[in-house]
Amino acid sequence: MYTLLRTILFKFSPEAVHHFSMKALKISCSTWLGKKILSSLFTYKNPKLHTLFLGLPFRNPVGLAAGFDKNAEYLRELECLGFGFVETGTVTPKAQPGNDKPRVFRLPADKALINRMGFNNEGVDVVAERLRKWKTSRESGVGSQESTANPTYRMIIGGNIGKNKVTPNEEAWKDYEICFNALHDYVDYFVVNVSSPNTPGLRELQEKESLRKILVHLQTLNSEKAIQRPILLKIAPDLTNEQLDDVAALALEIKLDGLVATNTTISREGLSQESGVGRLEG
Ligand SMILES: Cc1cc2nc3c(=O)[nH]c(=O)nc-3n(C[C@H](O)[C@H](O)[C@H](O)COP(=O)(O)O)c2cc1C
Repeated sequence: MYTLLRTILFKFSPEAVHHFSMKALKISCSTWLGKKILSSLFTYKNPKLHTLFLGLPFRNPVGLAAGFDKNAEYLRELECLGFGFVETGTVTPKAQPGNDKPRVFRLPADKALINRMGFNNEGVDVVAERLRKWKTSRESGVGSQESTANPTYRMIIGGNIGKNKVTPNEEAWKDYEICFNALHDYVDYFVVNVSSPNTPGLRELQEKESLRKILVHLQTLNSEKAIQRPILLKIAPDLTNEQLDDVAALALEIKLDGLVATNTTISREGLSQESGVGRLEG
């Protein structure tokens, strides 16, 4: 069944199939019965999977990385599918269209995908409003202060934040601040994304002093809030050993909550098929 479905879906562009599948899932989940059936098929509930990590009560440790639900449109559906956490984003202060299409490429022989989306998203205000509604729809409340003695294990929401393409690197910290403040009430943890290869120059922010400026600033803002959210840094898989040492040293020095390893690679090593597609130009 899956093979047949896959053959049909592979006739269409990856991005079109993504949107089509998620819309279909949304319709299936829109009724009480549909939701019940999907949850019973996909959600494996077992207290053994409960995971307390970063002080957060994950119902299970299997989550969805950033980029799948960039605009927080499908949280109910992803909850139905059983995920323990969903990382929304990357979001930027202002909405932006991302790179021209096509910008996702299948490499079937390698069971791989090339991503050059370029932070297409609806902007942080739209996403924050969706997350606010999600939070109020959930009794235990995303982002509420957890009781570590008796936590409610649930689907945890992450907020992956970035900068707009037009924002120069020297002012990037302001974009991270805007996103951080807008989402702080509605997400459980933050991921600072400086490692996407699809925003020109973004990865230069992985240099130690640029990182320090952004991360320490966010930590200061965090410390002034009533509730402190864990702040993690998402790194590229293409860093040199020296860069990795710098990141690790900084993370320890400023007591960062964690690292997310890793973002999309720019390496095309080990692929069996020619893949000149999807390279970011300029
Ligand atoms: C189509 C696509 C879009 C992505 N968008 C984002 C994004 O917006 N922000 C981000 O931090 N990572 C993004 N990623 C990277 C993934 O979150 C993940 O880090 C990456 O795919 C590596 O994980 P994997 O080896 O399991 O694929 C994207 C990946 C893909 C394939």
